[in-house]
Amino acid sequence: MIQVRCLVENSAKHSTPLWGEHGLAWHIQTPHGQLLFDTGQSGDVLLHNAVLFGLDLAQIDALAISHAHYDHTGGLSKVLEGTRPGIPLHAHADLFRERFSKQGDAYKSIGLRSSRAALESHVELRLSTEPVEILPGVWTTGEITERATFEGRSPSHLIRAGEGWRPDPYRDDLSLVLQTAAGLVVLLGCGHAGLLNILAQVRAQFEGDIIAIAGGTHLTSATGLLLQQVVETLAATYGTPAIYPNHCSGYHAWMTLTAAFGDRVQPCPVGTELTFA
Ligand SMILES: [Fe+2]
Ligand SMILES: [Fe+2]
Repeated sequence: MIQVRCLVENSAKHSTPLWGEHGLAWHIQTPHGQLLFDTGQSGDVLLHNAVLFGLDLAQIDALAISHAHYDHTGGLSKVLEGTRPGIPLHAHADLFRERFSKQGDAYKSIGLRSSRAALESHVELRLSTEPVEILPGVWTTGEITERATFEGRSPSHLIRAGEGWRPDPYRDDLSLVLQTAAGLVVLLGCGHAGLLNILAQVRAQFEGDIIAIAGGTHLTSATGLLLQQVVETLAATYGTPAIYPNHCSGYHAWMTLTAAFGDRVQPCPVGTELTFA
């Protein structure tokens, strides 16, 4: 059995003492160990919620990071105060590239705030562009190399290019694949590589049906036409998996998906627990 808990998200379940913040983090418990996927932006929200979940960070076996953005990595330094020394941290090799958001004439740094040296004093860095099995049955997707359909892109996301700027190619964007008895579960960070691109690569790399998708799909600025393509592909190619869109998925995407798939689409705030046989 694999249990997935939403540990940090923009919102928390009603009538609970759990906290939310703009960001995302997951806790994944398997029979072989447990890991954290992302850390939210402050660390305070993750630590607060972890206590309420009864999680002991010292017992975490591994960390994985979906991409460099601060709302997924900002909690790292506080999390690492509680995890065991030398814990493996899985990420894409492009994690350390500077990333910016253009706001008017200003370029705001939105990437990783921890230096490589600071991280390496706490973790064993495992950077790879290839799929990596973190724990038995828990894989990274590796770099999403084929970007045949639209990406989960923000026009304001830029990286340096010589003296100028160019769009962030989001090469660092990884998702997790959980191999359960019922099929594959895809856990997303922001899905910047593009939801359909990610699913296509998972389908090509792993055996079994995709039974569930959870996380940020970054469909906030997707047009109606693109959302329709998502709906049609999810139904025709993937047999309408259970969908738990959260974080950066966007209201329009939520409405479109629920209109198409009804109860197959469920909210996923902090406090959501998903169990797979
Ligand atoms: Fe995000
Ligand atoms: Fe992001």
